[in-house]
Amino acid sequence: MLIRLFFLLASFSPTIEEWLWKRWYQKLASSYKKKDWRFMNYGYAPINSEPLLTLNNEEDEKNRLFIQLYHYTLSDIDVKEKNILEVGSGRGGGADYVARYLAPSSIIGVDFAKNAIDLCNQFYHHHNLSFVEGNAEKLPFPNDHFDVIFNVESSHCYGNMQAFVAEINRVLKPGGIFSWADLRTVKSMEKDDDIFMSSPLKLLLKKNITPNILQALNEISDQKKEAINKRVSYFWRSLFFEFTGVRDSKIYHGFEEGKMVYFYYRFQKP
Ligand SMILES: C[S@@+](CC[C@H](N)C(=O)[O-])C[C@H]1O[C@@H](n2cnc3c(N)ncnc32)[C@H](O)[C@@H]1O
Repeated sequence: MLIRLFFLLASFSPTIEEWLWKRWYQKLASSYKKKDWRFMNYGYAPINSEPLLTLNNEEDEKNRLFIQLYHYTLSDIDVKEKNILEVGSGRGGGADYVARYLAPSSIIGVDFAKNAIDLCNQFYHHHNLSFVEGNAEKLPFPNDHFDVIFNVESSHCYGNMQAFVAEINRVLKPGGIFSWADLRTVKSMEKDDDIFMSSPLKLLLKKNITPNILQALNEISDQKKEAINKRVSYFWRSLFFEFTGVRDSKIYHGFEEGKMVYFYYRFQKP
């Protein structure tokens, strides 16, 4: 019911959609301020013969599935001693992982939810990591600035995907890499594929990673349900079950039935 209302209101205009998402993420950050919740993506589970990622501590182990999505997004991209940007950094777990494990010269996380940015600035204090408030469709950075930009499970909230892609192209250095992962209905993935393909960015890689996402959702579903039942009041629970994609949610069934897809794209600025 609540989820239907959310998407009904969002369908009126991209401005309303963006406003709703912003309210949602602002509220999430102000309602739960503990550092034990650092990631808001669906996770990625290796299947077939992908090697298992080595993690250094117990806290990272707890977040393995979410970190694996970041690891996959940046695999084989040279970020060491480079200037990196994450757009839609959420509660900062991904940017923190990159700062600690991949040794960039600097990494900035940008997000339009100020409350989330404030949390990140409290949580993380690495010399090469910082967080700033900003909108993906109007990035607060100069032209030709970053070597690598990545964007994980955030762009489905954007009102204007074309403006976002134009901004990526503007702030990326020539030769720089843009790495993108997100979910869509099959139809809107096709629409956004057209936007990507008509941009100046050159496609390097494209992969449907829905099976890996579905496997991760399966592995984490019981844990998520338990946390939601414990922390969220009865009235809001169904909304949280939907947004977190637990087993039996519409999103989960959408992936299973092939109506929803999760894709990975990698580009280079010419
Ligand atoms: C599902 S969360 C993912 C966060 C993070 N990438 C992760 O994997 O944990 C989506 C994030 O995108 C951010 N976001 C949505 N629309 C945005 C926009 N127009 N500009 C900047 N950030 C945005 C939200 O505030 C939220 O933090």
